[in-house]
Amino acid sequence: MSLRAFGPGKVILLGEHAVVYGHPALAGSISRGVTAHGAPARECGLALPAGLPVAVRRQLRAAFKVAAELTGRPAVRVTLERDLPTSMGLGSSAALSVATARLLLQAAGRRARPAEVAHVALGMEREFHGTPSGVDHTCSALGTLIEYRRRPGAEAGRARVVECPRPLHVVVALVGERSPTRSTVAALRARRERWPARYGRLFAEVGRVVHEGVAAVEQGDLEALGDVMNVNQGLLSALGLSSPGIDAMVHRLRQEGALGAKLTGAGGDGGAVVGLFERPERGVRRLTADGITCFTSQLAGPLER
Ligand code: MEV
Repeated sequence: MSLRAFGPGKVILLGEHAVVYGHPALAGSISRGVTAHGAPARECGLALPAGLPVAVRRQLRAAFKVAAELTGRPAVRVTLERDLPTSMGLGSSAALSVATARLLLQAAGRRARPAEVAHVALGMEREFHGTPSGVDHTCSALGTLIEYRRRPGAEAGRARVVECPRPLHVVVALVGERSPTRSTVAALRARRERWPARYGRLFAEVGRVVHEGVAAVEQGDLEALGDVMNVNQGLLSALGLSSPGIDAMVHRLRQEGALGAKLTGAGGDGGAVVGLFERPERGVRRLTADGITCFTSQLAGPLER
Protein backbone atom coordinates (compact mmCIF):
# COMPACT_ATOMS: atom_id res chain seq x y z
CA MET A 1 0.00 0.00 0.00
CA SER A 2 1.41 3.39 -0.90
CA LEU A 3 1.46 6.18 1.68
CA ARG A 4 1.49 9.94 1.37
CA ALA A 5 2.11 12.76 3.88
CA PHE A 6 2.34 16.55 3.57
CA GLY A 7 4.43 19.11 5.47
CA PRO A 8 3.50 22.76 4.85
CA GLY A 9 6.03 25.58 4.52
CA LYS A 10 5.68 28.65 6.70
CA VAL A 11 6.04 32.39 6.83
CA ILE A 12 7.20 34.17 9.94
CA LEU A 13 4.96 37.22 10.20
CA LEU A 14 6.86 38.60 13.18
CA GLY A 15 9.85 37.80 15.35
CA GLU A 16 12.43 35.78 13.35
CA HIS A 17 15.93 35.71 14.85
CA ALA A 18 14.77 37.19 18.18
CA VAL A 19 12.95 33.84 18.64
CA VAL A 20 16.36 32.14 18.80
CA TYR A 21 17.01 34.18 22.01
CA GLY A 22 13.76 33.31 23.76
CA HIS A 23 11.46 36.05 22.45
CA PRO A 24 8.10 35.15 20.89
CA ALA A 25 7.43 34.83 17.14
CA LEU A 26 4.23 34.72 15.11
CA ALA A 27 4.31 32.22 12.24
CA GLY A 28 1.73 30.73 9.90
CA SER A 29 1.78 27.64 7.71
CA ILE A 30 1.20 28.19 4.00
CA SER A 31 -0.52 26.14 1.32
CA ARG A 32 2.76 25.13 -0.35
CA GLY A 33 5.11 22.54 1.06
CA VAL A 34 6.64 19.09 0.65
CA THR A 35 4.80 15.81 0.03
CA ALA A 36 6.47 12.55 1.03
CA HIS A 37 5.42 9.41 -0.84
CA GLY A 38 6.11 5.95 0.56
CA ALA A 39 6.14 2.60 -1.24
CA PRO A 40 6.63 -0.81 0.41
CA ALA A 41 10.29 -1.88 0.35
CA ARG A 42 12.66 -4.44 1.90
CA GLU A 43 14.19 -1.76 4.11
CA CYS A 44 13.77 1.86 5.13
CA GLY A 45 15.33 4.19 2.56
CA LEU A 46 15.20 7.59 0.85
CA ALA A 47 15.26 7.86 -2.96
CA LEU A 48 16.93 11.07 -4.11
CA PRO A 49 16.70 12.58 -7.58
CA ALA A 50 19.83 12.56 -9.72
CA GLY A 51 21.84 15.74 -10.01
CA LEU A 52 21.70 16.93 -6.39
CA PRO A 53 24.99 18.39 -5.14
CA VAL A 54 27.02 15.93 -3.01
CA ALA A 55 26.76 18.11 0.13
CA VAL A 56 22.95 18.28 -0.17
CA ARG A 57 22.69 14.48 -0.68
CA ARG A 58 24.86 13.88 2.35
CA GLN A 59 22.79 16.21 4.53
CA LEU A 60 19.48 14.72 3.36
CA ARG A 61 20.72 11.19 3.98
CA ALA A 62 22.00 12.11 7.46
CA ALA A 63 18.68 13.77 8.35
CA PHE A 64 16.69 10.82 6.99
CA LYS A 65 18.80 8.40 9.03
CA VAL A 66 17.88 10.28 12.22
CA ALA A 67 14.15 10.10 11.38
CA ALA A 68 14.41 6.43 10.41
CA GLU A 69 16.08 5.56 13.73
CA LEU A 70 13.48 7.52 15.71
CA THR A 71 10.61 5.70 14.01
CA GLY A 72 12.03 2.15 14.17
CA ARG A 73 13.14 1.94 10.52
CA PRO A 74 9.81 0.95 8.91
CA ALA A 75 10.15 -0.94 5.60
CA VAL A 76 9.30 1.86 3.20
CA ARG A 77 11.03 3.68 0.36
CA VAL A 78 10.45 7.42 0.55
CA THR A 79 10.43 9.93 -2.30
CA LEU A 80 9.89 13.66 -1.90
CA GLU A 81 8.00 16.14 -4.05
CA ARG A 82 7.92 19.87 -3.38
CA ASP A 83 6.03 22.90 -4.58
CA LEU A 84 7.94 25.25 -2.28
CA PRO A 85 11.12 27.12 -3.20
CA THR A 86 14.07 25.73 -1.22
CA SER A 87 16.40 27.77 0.96
CA MET A 88 14.39 30.99 0.62
CA GLY A 89 13.22 31.40 4.21
CA LEU A 90 9.92 29.55 3.73
CA GLY A 91 10.70 26.61 5.98
CA SER A 92 11.46 24.13 3.19
CA SER A 93 13.68 21.96 5.38
CA ALA A 94 11.04 21.95 8.15
CA ALA A 95 8.34 21.05 5.59
CA LEU A 96 10.51 18.20 4.32
CA SER A 97 11.20 17.06 7.88
CA VAL A 98 7.52 17.14 8.86
CA ALA A 99 6.40 15.31 5.69
CA THR A 100 9.07 12.63 6.20
CA ALA A 101 8.35 12.28 9.93
CA ARG A 102 4.61 11.94 9.29
CA LEU A 103 5.15 9.35 6.59
CA LEU A 104 7.60 7.24 8.61
CA LEU A 105 5.31 7.32 11.66
CA GLN A 106 2.38 6.18 9.49
CA ALA A 107 4.53 3.43 7.94
CA ALA A 108 5.54 2.30 11.43
CA GLY A 109 1.86 2.00 12.34
CA ARG A 110 2.12 4.83 14.88
CA ARG A 111 -0.24 7.75 15.27
CA ALA A 112 1.27 10.84 13.66
CA ARG A 113 0.21 13.26 16.42
CA PRO A 114 1.71 16.78 16.07
CA ALA A 115 3.94 16.39 19.16
CA GLU A 116 5.42 13.14 17.86
CA VAL A 117 5.80 14.51 14.33
CA ALA A 118 7.54 17.57 15.78
CA HIS A 119 9.92 15.40 17.84
CA VAL A 120 11.06 13.40 14.79
CA ALA A 121 11.18 16.52 12.58
CA LEU A 122 13.36 18.33 15.14
CA GLY A 123 15.91 15.52 14.89
CA MET A 124 16.07 16.16 11.12
CA GLU A 125 16.09 19.96 11.46
CA ARG A 126 19.17 19.74 13.70
CA GLU A 127 21.03 18.08 10.81
CA PHE A 128 20.01 20.97 8.53
CA HIS A 129 20.39 23.96 10.87
CA GLY A 130 22.42 23.04 13.96
CA THR A 131 20.35 24.60 16.77
CA PRO A 132 17.04 25.84 15.32
CA SER A 133 14.61 27.68 17.60
CA GLY A 134 11.98 25.14 16.57
CA VAL A 135 9.48 27.68 15.20
CA ASP A 136 9.64 26.35 11.61
CA HIS A 137 8.96 22.65 12.24
CA THR A 138 6.46 23.35 15.06
CA CYS A 139 4.45 25.62 12.75
CA SER A 140 4.60 23.01 9.99
CA ALA A 141 3.61 20.15 12.33
CA LEU A 142 0.60 22.10 13.67
CA GLY A 143 -0.32 23.48 10.23
CA THR A 144 -1.80 26.74 11.47
CA LEU A 145 -1.00 30.25 12.77
CA ILE A 146 0.95 30.09 16.03
CA GLU A 147 2.68 32.21 18.60
CA TYR A 148 5.85 30.34 19.46
CA ARG A 149 8.41 30.75 22.19
CA ARG A 150 11.52 28.71 22.85
CA ARG A 151 11.83 27.28 26.37
CA PRO A 152 15.30 27.23 27.89
CA GLY A 153 16.57 23.69 28.31
CA ALA A 154 13.42 22.09 26.84
CA GLU A 155 13.31 20.31 23.49
CA ALA A 156 9.89 21.64 22.48
CA GLY A 157 9.02 25.32 22.63
CA ARG A 158 5.64 26.62 23.73
CA ALA A 159 3.19 27.02 20.83
CA ARG A 160 -0.22 28.63 21.06
CA VAL A 161 -2.70 28.66 18.18
CA VAL A 162 -3.63 32.26 17.31
CA GLU A 163 -7.14 32.79 15.94
CA CYS A 164 -8.02 35.67 13.63
CA PRO A 165 -11.66 36.67 13.02
CA ARG A 166 -10.76 37.80 9.48
CA PRO A 167 -8.88 35.99 6.71
CA LEU A 168 -5.16 36.79 6.66
CA HIS A 169 -3.90 36.95 3.08
CA VAL A 170 -0.22 37.29 2.32
CA VAL A 171 1.83 37.68 -0.81
CA VAL A 172 5.27 36.09 -0.73
CA ALA A 173 7.83 37.43 -3.22
CA LEU A 174 11.31 36.02 -3.78
CA VAL A 175 14.45 38.10 -4.07
CA GLY A 176 17.85 36.95 -5.39
CA GLU A 177 20.07 34.36 -3.75
CA ARG A 178 19.85 33.76 -0.06
CA SER A 179 22.69 32.97 2.33
CA PRO A 180 22.20 29.74 4.35
CA THR A 181 20.17 30.24 7.56
CA ARG A 182 22.98 28.69 9.59
CA SER A 183 25.51 31.38 8.54
CA THR A 184 23.06 34.33 8.89
CA VAL A 185 22.16 33.16 12.42
CA ALA A 186 25.86 32.64 13.28
CA ALA A 187 26.91 36.09 12.02
CA LEU A 188 24.17 37.74 14.07
CA ARG A 189 25.18 35.71 17.12
CA ALA A 190 28.76 37.03 16.74
CA ARG A 191 27.52 40.66 16.58
CA ARG A 192 25.32 40.07 19.62
CA GLU A 193 28.24 38.59 21.58
CA ARG A 194 30.40 41.57 20.70
CA TRP A 195 27.77 44.23 21.50
CA PRO A 196 25.33 42.50 23.88
CA ALA A 197 23.55 45.58 25.28
CA ARG A 198 22.68 47.08 21.89
CA TYR A 199 21.57 43.81 20.32
CA GLY A 200 19.74 42.80 23.50
CA ARG A 201 17.70 46.02 23.28
CA LEU A 202 16.79 45.37 19.66
CA PHE A 203 15.73 41.76 20.36
CA ALA A 204 13.62 42.90 23.33
CA GLU A 205 11.89 45.46 21.11
CA VAL A 206 11.16 42.76 18.52
CA GLY A 207 9.58 40.73 21.34
CA ARG A 208 7.39 43.71 22.29
CA VAL A 209 6.14 44.28 18.76
CA VAL A 210 5.34 40.57 18.41
CA HIS A 211 3.01 40.87 21.45
CA GLU A 212 1.34 43.88 19.82
CA GLY A 213 1.04 42.01 16.52
CA VAL A 214 -0.55 38.94 18.14
CA ALA A 215 -3.11 41.19 19.87
CA ALA A 216 -3.84 42.88 16.52
CA VAL A 217 -4.42 39.48 14.87
CA GLU A 218 -6.79 38.40 17.63
CA GLN A 219 -8.77 41.62 17.25
CA GLY A 220 -8.81 41.29 13.44
CA ASP A 221 -7.07 44.69 13.22
CA LEU A 222 -5.12 44.13 9.99
CA GLU A 223 -3.96 47.75 9.74
CA ALA A 224 -2.31 47.52 13.15
CA LEU A 225 -0.75 44.16 12.20
CA GLY A 226 0.60 45.69 8.97
CA ASP A 227 2.13 48.56 10.91
CA VAL A 228 3.77 46.15 13.36
CA MET A 229 5.23 44.23 10.39
CA ASN A 230 6.71 47.46 9.01
CA VAL A 231 8.28 48.27 12.39
CA ASN A 232 9.63 44.71 12.62
CA GLN A 233 11.25 45.20 9.20
CA GLY A 234 12.97 48.33 10.54
CA LEU A 235 14.31 46.35 13.49
CA LEU A 236 15.50 43.50 11.22
CA SER A 237 17.30 46.09 9.15
CA ALA A 238 18.93 47.52 12.30
CA LEU A 239 20.03 43.97 13.17
CA GLY A 240 21.83 43.82 9.81
CA LEU A 241 19.52 41.23 8.24
CA SER A 242 18.12 43.10 5.24
CA SER A 243 19.73 43.94 1.89
CA PRO A 244 19.12 46.44 -0.94
CA GLY A 245 17.15 43.76 -2.87
CA ILE A 246 14.97 42.91 0.13
CA ASP A 247 14.41 46.60 0.93
CA ALA A 248 13.33 47.28 -2.67
CA MET A 249 10.85 44.37 -2.59
CA VAL A 250 9.44 45.50 0.77
CA HIS A 251 8.77 48.95 -0.76
CA ARG A 252 7.32 47.42 -3.90
CA LEU A 253 4.82 45.33 -1.92
CA ARG A 254 3.79 48.40 0.06
CA GLN A 255 3.29 50.29 -3.23
CA GLU A 256 1.09 47.44 -4.42
CA GLY A 257 -1.17 47.97 -1.44
CA ALA A 258 0.33 45.82 1.32
CA LEU A 259 -0.81 46.92 4.77
CA GLY A 260 2.67 45.91 5.93
CA ALA A 261 5.69 44.13 4.45
CA LYS A 262 8.92 42.67 5.74
CA LEU A 263 11.50 40.00 5.10
CA THR A 264 10.48 36.58 6.39
CA GLY A 265 12.81 33.83 7.62
CA ALA A 266 16.50 34.37 7.99
CA GLY A 267 17.01 37.25 5.54
CA GLY A 268 20.58 38.14 4.55
CA ASP A 269 21.47 38.86 0.91
CA GLY A 270 18.11 37.72 -0.42
CA GLY A 271 15.20 35.43 0.37
CA ALA A 272 11.48 35.86 0.82
CA VAL A 273 9.52 39.03 1.52
CA VAL A 274 5.99 38.81 2.92
CA GLY A 275 3.26 41.41 2.48
CA LEU A 276 -0.13 41.47 4.22
CA PHE A 277 -3.01 42.26 1.85
CA GLU A 278 -6.76 42.73 2.11
CA ARG A 279 -7.03 41.66 -1.55
CA PRO A 280 -3.83 40.07 -2.88
CA GLU A 281 -4.86 39.19 -6.49
CA ARG A 282 -4.04 42.49 -8.21
CA GLY A 283 -0.61 42.79 -6.54
CA VAL A 284 0.32 39.22 -7.52
CA ARG A 285 -0.75 39.88 -11.14
CA ARG A 286 1.33 43.05 -11.37
CA LEU A 287 4.41 41.53 -9.71
CA THR A 288 4.20 38.44 -11.95
CA ALA A 289 3.91 40.66 -15.04
CA ASP A 290 7.21 42.25 -13.97
CA GLY A 291 8.90 38.84 -13.81
CA ILE A 292 8.91 38.62 -9.98
CA THR A 293 8.42 35.13 -8.56
CA CYS A 294 5.58 35.39 -6.08
CA PHE A 295 2.51 33.60 -4.77
CA THR A 296 -0.32 34.15 -2.36
CA SER A 297 -1.49 32.14 0.64
CA GLN A 298 -4.14 32.43 3.32
CA LEU A 299 -2.74 32.04 6.83
CA ALA A 300 -5.74 32.17 9.12
CA GLY A 301 -9.33 33.16 9.52
CA PRO A 302 -12.49 31.88 7.87
CA LEU A 303 -11.67 30.36 4.49
CA GLU A 304 -12.78 32.57 1.59
CA ARG A 305 -14.37 30.91 -1.40
C1 MEV B 1 14.32 30.75 10.20
O1 MEV B 1 13.13 30.42 9.50
C2 MEV B 1 13.99 31.48 11.47
C3 MEV B 1 15.18 31.95 12.30
O2 MEV B 1 14.62 32.66 13.40
C4 MEV B 1 16.04 30.80 12.80
C5 MEV B 1 15.34 29.93 13.85
O3 MEV B 1 14.34 30.33 14.40
O4 MEV B 1 15.92 28.85 14.14
C6 MEV B 1 16.07 32.90 11.53
